[in-house]
Amino acid sequence: MKTLVVYDSAYGNTKTIAEALASGLGRKAAAVPVDRFDAGSLKSGDLLVVGSPINGWRPTPKITQALADLAARGLAGVRAAAFDTRLKLFIHGDAAKKMSRALKDAGASIVASPMAFYVKGSEGPLLKGEVDRAVAWAEKLRAGLKDRGSLGDA
Ligand SMILES: Cc1cc2nc3c(=O)[nH]c(=O)nc-3n(C[C@H](O)[C@H](O)[C@H](O)COP(=O)(O)O)c2cc1C
Repeated sequence: MKTLVVYDSAYGNTKTIAEALASGLGRKAAAVPVDRFDAGSLKSGDLLVVGSPINGWRPTPKITQALADLAARGLAGVRAAAFDTRLKLFIHGDAAKKMSRALKDAGASIVASPMAFYVKGSEGPLLKGEVDRAVAWAEKLRAGLKDRGSLGDA
């Protein structure tokens, strides 16, 4: 079973969260920039976590393209979850829910509700405690996968 955290990141904040997630997900997990992700490399039983900054209320174009590539191949048997990074604004839009829905529509089994991590400004930094929160979310994900195989659809 392979565990990949695929992300896009302009200023490094989403990358930092992706790497924290990979560390919390265990030795065999890897954080992979979307440019280097091969959508054809996933197999049934793998865990895929997709992360993107919110850009204009949606995931970045590169992540949207990767999700389209995954949908074309199908994600049957793949377990998946999504997160975004965003500003703490009254109106901020969403990317994680859209990505989670796209993963589900592609056939993946969604193992955690979409998650948001917060940055202070467009270029960051991440708010205090967000990296720890990412590690904790990853550990929860890992425990859920171990205990039940799936935490249920988001
Ligand atoms: C062009 C652009 C559009 C953005 N749109 C939103 C938005 O709609 N909602 C939001 O909460 N943050 C928005 N942001 C802030 C990003 O979420 C923030 O830059 C990102 O989390 C930083 O992640 P990164 O360092 O991985 O690029 C936007 C940033 C940019 C540059």
